[in-house]
Amino acid sequence: MASRRAVNLSLTLLLLHLSILLSPSASEFGQFCDAGVGYGESACGVSGGSSKILIKGGTVVNAHHQEVADVYVEDGKIVAVKPNIKVGDDVTVLDATGKYVMPGGIDPHTHLAMDFMASQTLDDFFSGQAAALAGGTTMHIDFVIPVKGSLIAGIESYEKKASKSCMDYGFHMAITKWDDDVSREMEVMVNEKGINSFKFFMAYKGALMINDELLLQGLKKCKSLGALAMVHAENGDAVFEGQNRMIELGITGPEGHVLSRPAVLEGEATARAIRLAAFVNTPLYVVHVMSIDAMEEIAKARQSGQRVIGEPVVSGLVLDDSKIWDPDFTTAATYVMSPPIRAAGHDKALQAALSTGVLQLVGTDHCAFNSTQKALGIDDFRKIPNGVNGIEERMHLVWDTMVESGKISASDYVRITSTECARIFNIYPRKGAILVGSDADIIVLNPNSSFEISAKTHHSRLDTNVFEGKKGKGKIEVTIAGGRIVWINGELKVAPGSGKYVSMPPFSYLFQGMDKADAAYLSSLRAPVKRQISTE
Ligand code: URP
Ligand code: ZN
Ligand code: ZN
Repeated sequence: MASRRAVNLSLTLLLLHLSILLSPSASEFGQFCDAGVGYGESACGVSGGSSKILIKGGTVVNAHHQEVADVYVEDGKIVAVKPNIKVGDDVTVLDATGKYVMPGGIDPHTHLAMDFMASQTLDDFFSGQAAALAGGTTMHIDFVIPVKGSLIAGIESYEKKASKSCMDYGFHMAITKWDDDVSREMEVMVNEKGINSFKFFMAYKGALMINDELLLQGLKKCKSLGALAMVHAENGDAVFEGQNRMIELGITGPEGHVLSRPAVLEGEATARAIRLAAFVNTPLYVVHVMSIDAMEEIAKARQSGQRVIGEPVVSGLVLDDSKIWDPDFTTAATYVMSPPIRAAGHDKALQAALSTGVLQLVGTDHCAFNSTQKALGIDDFRKIPNGVNGIEERMHLVWDTMVESGKISASDYVRITSTECARIFNIYPRKGAILVGSDADIIVLNPNSSFEISAKTHHSRLDTNVFEGKKGKGKIEVTIAGGRIVWINGELKVAPGSGKYVSMPPFSYLFQGMDKADAAYLSSLRAPVKRQISTE
């Protein structure tokens, strides 16, 4: 059996190598397979082996349930989940005894090939996704940035960037200005382009930042389209003031970044966005929740019944700001992101909020700038491109920090790394589940094996890693994406162009019953009052 599988695999490899040699785009693969990005020979177009896979004897974990069962995959879909599935010799069999079989991670927050702060993020839709797959993430949702305010031009540019994708992906759209064209284009995005979420930046004054008037227009439009409004919640005007204050004090290094935008400014903007969303009566998603201040605003709103989603990111969950004071500029600048990584204490509070359901899912905000790009701000922290890595590390670090430590169960892990994201963005149960009919995006995690993170071994193009040296338990040994084995035995097998765009329909579960709340609001107004003109 094993030797027949080996023959099958060799034949497949041979055929794939032949097809690459004959393919007109063969030379293109070369450019993605350079040794510097850390993929082996197998990265150059080999994406899978058999389209029939049996994962035997693992503990299959979903967000609602776990059981020991086999999982059978054919042509990219999960076909059966039950004990003792019998298959023929044409099936690749993976033994998962003693291991967890879980839905691949979905990262709700990434920035691949994004033009930002006079640079472009280094990881594109191939290298970033390859890194993701090596870390057990099988889908991500990236933020399209409009071109001169145009959403259509923005999505066209991202469609090109994403053409070399090697895993499934979706898009959010940023809104950076407001006029009738933007309003109309939002309709096109939802009705024709499969986008069901829009991000509003309350910071980055003079660049992406919007004001409250625009935010209100945007919230109203999102509500009418059944699209989810997302906010980067920091008070951009106050941050600008804080930056000037630091420069006047002669603080020009990376620590000036953290000092200029304290947690109170994140808390203020989070509270404001929450209140405006309550005023419009539309759901709100707060991205990269980095502080206790912001988290507590979300907790209060949820307790009062408001539909607010809070997304911490892995850097905020497992790091503190200590490295920002490192005397070496390159080291310190690596940690510059917005909102900033906070002082020790915020990380633990965010973990607790995640384990108690105050926060719902974990992203990365993967936004990779290398040390040369970060050096743009060597004399002025305001010019250090903002962003840190995480797309490859999230699944391991969340397992180790949350499950291995006993804070949450394996089912909760699946919920916060995959299922909840699929539900919020309305693609469940196609994604985020090990169920018959779901896409075959699957990981096998060995809880007894360990991992260690280093820029020397990661798959991102970065020369640094904010999680450098972190070790932990729970190793993702296999990643299956779209029914193909893309990560096994420490080797990536990915091909540019194999990833698919995932269209996300509007009106997710977050919108259910909103019409009733609107009706209750209208009837509570007791207005307009019918008055008679007094004749006296
Ligand atoms: O520092 C960050 N977060 N960079 C990416 C852009 C954003 O604000 O999400
Ligand atoms: Zn942001
Ligand atoms: Zn971001």
